[in-house]
Amino acid sequence: MILAMEHIYKDYYQGKTPVPVLKDVNFRMDEGDYVAIMGPSGSGKTTLMNMVGCLDRPTRGTYILAGKNIGEQKDDELADIRNRYLGFVFQSFYLLPKMNATDNVALPLLYAGVPKKERTERAQEALRMVGLGERLKFLPNQLSGGQCQRIAIARAMVGNPTLLLADEPTGALDSASGDQVMELFAQLNARGTTVLMITHELAIAQCAKKIYHIRDGILDTGEGAGA
Ligand SMILES: Nc1ncnc2c1ncn2[C@@H]1O[C@H](COP(=O)(O)OP(=O)(O)O)[C@@H](O)[C@H]1O
Ligand SMILES: [Mg+2]
Repeated sequence: MILAMEHIYKDYYQGKTPVPVLKDVNFRMDEGDYVAIMGPSGSGKTTLMNMVGCLDRPTRGTYILAGKNIGEQKDDELADIRNRYLGFVFQSFYLLPKMNATDNVALPLLYAGVPKKERTERAQEALRMVGLGERLKFLPNQLSGGQCQRIAIARAMVGNPTLLLADEPTGALDSASGDQVMELFAQLNARGTTVLMITHELAIAQCAKKIYHIRDGILDTGEGAGA
C-alpha cells in the first residue's frame, strides 16, 4: 500500500462559517496503480490533490502515505516527504522562464543537496526519457506547450518518486500533445511509478487503469459506503 485516506474531510472557512469541500473521502492506492479522478469544476479535485500531495492538511480524518501518518508530521517533515516520495505535474507547467530545460529539471535535486555534476547528468537523462534529448539547453519560451509539460514531467520524475501526482496535466494542451503526455504516463506506470491523475476529460481519464468519480466533495471509488 502506498497511501490510504480514511474519512477525510476538508472545510474552507468563509469568515467563521465552514464550507465543506471534501466529505468523508476514503480511498487507497497500491504500488503500480494508475488512478484517474474525474469530476466537474468545483467538485473538490484540486483540494483532494493538495491533501494527497501534503500541500494542505485535512480538517479531519486519517491520511497514511508511505507508512507515515501525515497528520502527525510537522511542516518540515511534510516537505521532506514530498521531496522523497512525490512528483508533481500541474496544468500550468510552472517552469522558471530564465532557466533552460536541464536546469529546470535539476532544480529539485539542487534542493535535495545533490552535487552539480550528478544533477546535470540526472536531469539530462530524465529529459531524454521524455523525448527531449535534443532540447537540453532550450528555454521554456523556445518550446511548445507539450514540450514544456514534458520538461515538467522530467522534473517530477528526476527524484524517482514513488507516486506521480498530476492535476489536469493535459488541460492546457492541444489533443496531440495531450496524447503524448498520456503515452508518457503509461510508460512511467509500466516501469513501476504509481500515478494519480485528476482530469475532467473522459478520454484522458480512460488512459488510467481505474477511474474514480468525485462530485460535490464525495468520492465514489465503486466500493460503496464504509469501504
Ligand atoms: N482556498 C480556498 N478557500 C475557500 N474555498 C475554496 C478554496 N479553494 C477551493 N475552494 C472551494 O472549494 C471547492 C472545490 O474547489 P477545487 O478543489 O479547486 O475544485 P476543482 O479542482 O474540482 O475544480 C470550490 O467550491 C472552491 O470554490
Ligand atoms: Mg482543479
